[in-house]
Amino acid sequence: MIEIKNVNESYVDGIKVIDNMNLTIEDGVVFGFIGPNGAGKTTTIEMITGVLGIDSGDILIDGKSIKTDPIEAKKKFGFVPDTPDVFEKLTGLEYLNFIGDVYEISAKDRLERVKRLSEKFNIQEHLKDRIQSYSHGMKQKLLIISVLLHNPKNWILDEPMTGLDPKASYTLKKLMKEHSKNGNTVFFSTHVLEVAEKICDKIAVIDKGKIIFVGTVEELKLKAKSNSSLEESFLKIVE
Ligand SMILES: Nc1ncnc2c1ncn2[C@@H]1O[C@H](COP(=O)(O)OP(=O)(O)O)[C@@H](O)[C@H]1O
Ligand SMILES: [Mg+2]
Repeated sequence: MIEIKNVNESYVDGIKVIDNMNLTIEDGVVFGFIGPNGAGKTTTIEMITGVLGIDSGDILIDGKSIKTDPIEAKKKFGFVPDTPDVFEKLTGLEYLNFIGDVYEISAKDRLERVKRLSEKFNIQEHLKDRIQSYSHGMKQKLLIISVLLHNPKNWILDEPMTGLDPKASYTLKKLMKEHSKNGNTVFFSTHVLEVAEKICDKIAVIDKGKIIFVGTVEELKLKAKSNSSLEESFLKIVE
């Protein structure tokens, strides 16, 4: 579970990028964070994960504050950022082993998970290559695998389908569904509404740093008095 409480953030003095945000992401649902470019999705996710400091308010991950208890909070989630910048000089396998060491995953689990996941995402043949030779999509797959490797309860993914091929995208969506069905938290941002409509049990819509809707896709359509697509409803309420 992720709880965002009265959070404010600005990059430049005076201009609020996140404006008094309150949002609870419960266990057991695939929760989509949707909004136009520049709405504040990445900023929010970077605050949740401790990449950015929080100006005011607090964020709890399974009850642990990223502000006052960052090490404990960080043990509770896995994060796939929107730009998959990883240590370019390492090979894929070296990177996964590094993550395995950080999270103290046993050799047996590590071996089994790396094999299973790299086959699932079809990069097993590239694990011995340096990351600098990977395409954007391959780096993204590696990051997804590194998150799944330590099997965290909370998954936080920023625009995870961007750059993935159709099979990897399908695999990831399936894994996200499974993870939530097992009572865990899956929080991901997207500006691609078809993705949100297909897999989200619940969504929050953010626009100009403010949450303007929280509920199911059906509820959003009701609110927008639109019985067609999520896209139409979304455009109506963002207007
Ligand atoms: N490092 C930064 N410095 C200044 N402004 C930024 C920075 N990063 C993002 N912003 C601004 O914050 C707003 C929200 O950006 P972002 O969180 O990246 O949106 P989203 O992920 O929803 O597209 C935008 O107006 C963007 O220009
Ligand atoms: Mg973004």
